[in-house]
Amino acid sequence: MAEGRMMELHSAVGILLGLLVGLLVRSLLTRSPHRLPPPPCIRGWIPWLGAALQMGKDPLEFIQRARQKHGPIFTVVAAGNRLTFVSGDEGMSAFFKSKEVNFLQAVQKPVQHTASVKEETFYKLHGDILKMMTFRLSHNRLNAHVTRLCSEFSSHLDQLSSQGTKELYDLVRQVMYPAVVDNLFGKGVCPTTKDTIKEFEEHFRTFDEGFERGSQLPEWFFKNWSLSKQWLLKLFKNIIPKEEESKPSEDSAKTLLHHLLDTIRGNSAHNFSLLLLWASQANANPVSFWTLAFIISDPEIYKKVISEITSVFGERGQHHLSITAVDLKKVPYVKSCVLEAIRLRSPGVITRKVVKPLKVYNYEIPPGDLLMLSPYWIHRDPKYFFQILKNLNQNAGRRRW
Ligand code: HEM
Repeated sequence: MAEGRMMELHSAVGILLGLLVGLLVRSLLTRSPHRLPPPPCIRGWIPWLGAALQMGKDPLEFIQRARQKHGPIFTVVAAGNRLTFVSGDEGMSAFFKSKEVNFLQAVQKPVQHTASVKEETFYKLHGDILKMMTFRLSHNRLNAHVTRLCSEFSSHLDQLSSQGTKELYDLVRQVMYPAVVDNLFGKGVCPTTKDTIKEFEEHFRTFDEGFERGSQLPEWFFKNWSLSKQWLLKLFKNIIPKEEESKPSEDSAKTLLHHLLDTIRGNSAHNFSLLLLWASQANANPVSFWTLAFIISDPEIYKKVISEITSVFGERGQHHLSITAVDLKKVPYVKSCVLEAIRLRSPGVITRKVVKPLKVYNYEIPPGDLLMLSPYWIHRDPKYFFQILKNLNQNAGRRRW
């Protein structure tokens, strides 16, 4: 009896081993001899979350340390996503030129999370919206915006006292937000007056500050952020019907919001309006803040900027200031200050979705990965900004341009 059991056990083990060997041989035979390995991977130790917590503490430092350790390509597993970071010539070329990566698929989910735009509507309308925006904000159409913006900026700056101890960022917001919004959406369309702005400002700030987290995870993770998002969407739900009704027929009399409404023809109008509002503020405000901060933190640069401005527009308070797009060409030093602020304070990462296996630096990135590129760190790479960094060192770290 016992012998019979032993025989059964032996044959069962034999079958199992046979199966395993068969599977091994098949996998060896089907694997391409030239298949490249995946990039080095940082996984963390918490299931699903992966390295999200480590990265979340200080994302920019995390990226830089990982690059020093693993080189110009590495993958981070975080919150259910595989984020593959690339840098250097080959990495940048793959990011911007490769047909195996896709911008739309990378931003679709974030757009759905932050503005509740449905997947189908997003894919249907993105191309038309982008075409309209690039046409309406193109270089040769900027003059009208410059003149209107200048008069808005002047009127908001006039409301400030000549001295004060406010946060610089708040001051920038206080001037930039109403001027830009009245220009793009039409005067008084969004709350921009002293009496109406407070509640709006609080909700927009919460929405903006939580945008990155809110773009990655479902909104029920962040109650306050979700409340502010819903508040802003409701605001646009009330605004849109009035704007549709009062839309002028003449093209040149229309605001960017009117053109957006023409383009999307009633599809998710309040959702796309919220995205337009966010896009107009999210980068322009920090860049304005950093330009001012860099200028006023270096007396030599401050002196040079003031001298250029005065030589073109006259002494402060002498006459009413009216600036055209042509005037802006006469202040190249101010322009280089803005460009330098964009270089040093550009977005931490931009992203694309890998849609087919992608070969970079002798690694193969699998489809489904999010390809990540850091303008912030690339803009500090001495290989691309050699001259500027050379100046920076010669001047003991003070001179930035
Ligand atoms: C200094 C100011 C700004 C900076 C540094 C900036 C930067 C950027 C960056 C890095 C991207 C992502 C590009 C990519 O992944 O390839 C982007 C996208 C975009 N920006 Fe800006 N931006 C600025 C101002 C604005 C303003 C004022 C508006 C609107 C009035 C705007 C509208 C957009 C839109 C609509 C997109 C998405 C394009 C698409 O869906 O294809 N941006 N911006």
